[in-house]
Amino acid sequence: MSNPAVRPAGSRWPVFVVLGLFVLVTVVFLIEFTISTRDEIAARSQPTAQASVDENAVAALLSAGNPDSGAALVEKYGCIACHRIGVRSHIAPAFTEVASVAPTRHPPLSAAAYIYESVTNPLAFVVEGFNPAMPQNFKERLTPAEIGDIIAFLLSPDAN
Ligand code: HEC
Repeated sequence: MSNPAVRPAGSRWPVFVVLGLFVLVTVVFLIEFTISTRDEIAARSQPTAQASVDENAVAALLSAGNPDSGAALVEKYGCIACHRIGVRSHIAPAFTEVASVAPTRHPPLSAAAYIYESVTNPLAFVVEGFNPAMPQNFKERLTPAEIGDIIAFLLSPDAN
């Protein structure tokens, strides 16, 4: 009877080949898995914003927008209860800073499209450090023209 423990190393090569193949397959699998998971995460965190906001439509609303009536509308709809003009609070970001932060908040959205998104679909992007406390029914309560006025106001020096 041959004892496997004392068999000459040369006769074990098939075992090493199988083990080697196994390790190779495992490594390839892990690499593939890591890459596909990473791509999936990237795809998931990709802003779907572009699809949800029509930049051209928002640009048209903005160019027809009236900043003075926007100033009245942020009072009428109670926006300034949370976004106190000129005051930083823990409740909501100051409107004072919106014009400067809006262009970079939610790429690839432009400043105007980001403000439009914030009003009509607040959960699409929640500003870090704040609760998702924006009312979610402004899309039904405001007309597109009113949203255009508000965007024009928030991007004007008057909101600063
Ligand atoms: C009940 C409080 C509340 C009211 C009322 C409210 N907001 Fe907000 N808003 C928030 C909070 C909290 C955030 C930050 C969290 C988030 O991104 O949703 C926010 C975020 C925003 C942003 C993004 C600001 C930034 O710095 O990126 C805009 C623009 C905005 N609101 C506009 C409005 C407008 C216009 C109205 C009125 C039509 C309004 N909000 C009414 C609470 C409120």
